[in-house]
This record gives sequence, structure tokens and C-alpha cells, in this order.
Amino acid sequence: VSRSLKVAVVGATGAVGQALISILDSRKFPVAELLPFASKRSVGREISFQGRTSICRVLTPGCFDNVDLAFFDASDAVSQEWVPQAILSGAWVVDNSAAFRMDPKVPLVVPEVNGSHLTESDRLLAGPNCSTVQLVVALKSLSDRWGLKRVVVSTYKITRGAGIEAMAELSSQTLARLSGQAADSKAFVHPIAFNCIPQIGSFKNDYTGEETKIMEESRKILGLPELKITATAIRVPTLHCHGESVNVECMTPFKISDVRQAWTEQAGLVIQDDPSSSVYPMGIDAVGKDYVGVGRIRRDESVDNGLNFWVVSDNLRKGAALNAVQIGESVLQWIQAKPKKI
Ligand SMILES: NC(=O)c1ccc[n+]([C@@H]2O[C@H](COP(=O)([O-])OP(=O)(O)OC[C@H]3O[C@@H](n4cnc5c(N)ncnc54)[C@H](OP(=O)(O)O)[C@@H]3O)[C@@H](O)[C@H]2O)c1
Repeated sequence: VSRSLKVAVVGATGAVGQALISILDSRKFPVAELLPFASKRSVGREISFQGRTSICRVLTPGCFDNVDLAFFDASDAVSQEWVPQAILSGAWVVDNSAAFRMDPKVPLVVPEVNGSHLTESDRLLAGPNCSTVQLVVALKSLSDRWGLKRVVVSTYKITRGAGIEAMAELSSQTLARLSGQAADSKAFVHPIAFNCIPQIGSFKNDYTGEETKIMEESRKILGLPELKITATAIRVPTLHCHGESVNVECMTPFKISDVRQAWTEQAGLVIQDDPSSSVYPMGIDAVGKDYVGVGRIRRDESVDNGLNFWVVSDNLRKGAALNAVQIGESVLQWIQAKPKKI
């Protein structure tokens, strides 16, 4: 008989935490008991899961006792403090924060790209930034087959990804502007309504934190520490699914038909590319979907072995919660393969 797990979700009331709980349910992850954790203000809130109700609680010493698997979907600070405690209690941890992503001892995982390298001695597994996930799913087959000489990526990140308050600000600013009134900007340094802001996070040298994450995380996941990659991250006033314009120079010549074939065989990727019918990936179609969509596939004639394309994915699903559940499914296999403790 397969074992069901005691599963903790830290950040259970947040955007990613809620998506994760719903994906655990839809993928029939065997959960014997769900422990939802959130901040003080959510204590007592009811979380429905697989026909049962669990009550939200705060993190306390010993709260991970007997937990098999803990998903962390809160902040970097919460993960810094509590992930080590979950591991000491004997749990496997899948952490979606940035706290441990670049730690050389911690695998940074997109299962379709580097999941085969994991072993059950990896107790802490990190999930990447949402923009990194959809980029590396598309780059993987190009890297394997033709080699990556250089990558240039520009991300179009939705306002919703900056949190509920940012979303509310987009709505209130849009209404205010349409009625000719001025509106305050609190969530971002500039108004987001009818605007694009070329800054996500604070500047470290000439790049923002977001841009640095995309470059460093992509190198780590693809196992290419010397990869030449540069990123520009732009906040756009849209609601669902990040878009990315990607330009790649491959090491060796390719045929576009072979690129399409390689992407057809890539798990997690769907080609949506029929320019004559205006078919290409768009956020309004990808919301709630599990795939990374790729389209506008065309040769970049300005360089040797150049390729341009556009990728879109639901940041809450493949960009965060689904990716974490897929990592959790590896942990599940390891746990179910072990004899049960008596
Ligand atoms: N959104 C994305 O697209 C995305 C993609 C990839 C990775 N991530 C990462 O995933 C994490 C969650 O992001 P999100 O967008 O879901 O944020 P969010 O909607 O703001 O949710 C944050 C969650 O953390 C909880 N929390 C806050 N302080 C806590 C504490 N002291 N102890 C326990 N829980 C606490 C909140 O509980 P309350 O409701 O009680 O405040 C809430 O459940 C972040 O690390 C983010 O960087 C997000």
C-alpha cells in the first residue's frame, strides 16, 4: 500500500500557496494530513483540501515534527529562519523563495530540465524565480542539441506578480486616470497604469535584482556556469502570465524545422506558432494552464545561428506552484520507496 504524507504548506494563504494546495488536490498527491501555515493575521482561517478542512497556524518551534514534506511559499526571511528547522525535524523541503537558490549545496530545480540529477539525499530543493522557469524550459533543448553561445532575454512581468496590493493599485490608478484624476503610487516607484516600468527590484550595479536572478539561476539550472546571458526585466500593466522575448545565438547551425521538432519533444513546452492566423502564446490563453507556450519562432538573420522566440507561462503554476509540486513528486517517490518507520 503506498504511503500518504504529512505535508506542510508555509504561506498557505498566499497566491502561490493557494495555487499549490489546489494543484496537490488536482494531481491527487497522497496527503494524510495538511498543515497550513501563514502569518499571525491568518490564524484560524480555514483551508479546504480534499474534502477536509485544516486550520491555519503560525510557525512555532517543533511545528515540523513528523512532517514528511514542507513547501515554503512565504518570504525569503521566513525561509531563512524556518527551512533549517524543518530539515532538522527530518522533513524534505521544497522552497520557492530566493533564500537558498544560489547555495551551491542546494539543487535549483525545474524537473523537465535538471530533475534527473536529484537524489534522496537532497533534503532541500529550491524552485527558481518564475521568469527563470519558463526561460530554461525553452532553452534546454537548444542547449542540448546546438549549444548556447549567447542568450538575450527581455521579460514582460505582470503587475499581479508583485502582490495583491500592486494589483489593487493598477485597478485604482486605471480608474483614476480614465476619469482624469491623479493617483498615488505606493506599490511601485512610478505609476503602473498605462505604463511599463523597466525596474523590478532594486538596482545592484547596473542590473536589478530580478535581472541578476534570471541570469544566475539560468546558468545554474542549465549547468552552464559560463553561459553568456543578459536580461532586462520590465513590469507591465497586465494581469496574467509573464511573457519573454528571447534571442539566442547557438554554437552550431540549425534548421528551424529541427528546432520545432526538438521543442515538440520537450516536456512542459507547447508550440503555439502560426503567424498567418495570428497564433502565438498570450497571457489571456495561458492563465490556469500548465504549459510553457513558445511562438514567434524565427531566424535572427543579423547573427550566425541566431533564433528569436516568445515564451509565455502562468507564473503561479509552472512559474511557482506546479514546479514545486513536480519537485515534491520526486520526494514522494523516495519516501514511498522506503520501508515505513514503526
Ligand atoms: N507570485 C509568483 O509568481 C512567484 C513565483 C515564484 C516564486 N514566488 C515566491 O513564492 C513566495 C510567495 O509568493 P506569493 O506571490 O504567493 O506571496 P503572497 O501572495 O504575498 O503570500 C505570502 C504568504 O506568506 C505568508 N506569510 C507572511 N509572513 C509569514 C510568516 N511570518 N510566517 C508564515 N507565513 C507568512 C502570508 O500569510 P498571510 O496571508 O497571513 O499574510 C501568505 O500566505 C515568495 O517567496 C515569492 O518570491 C512567487
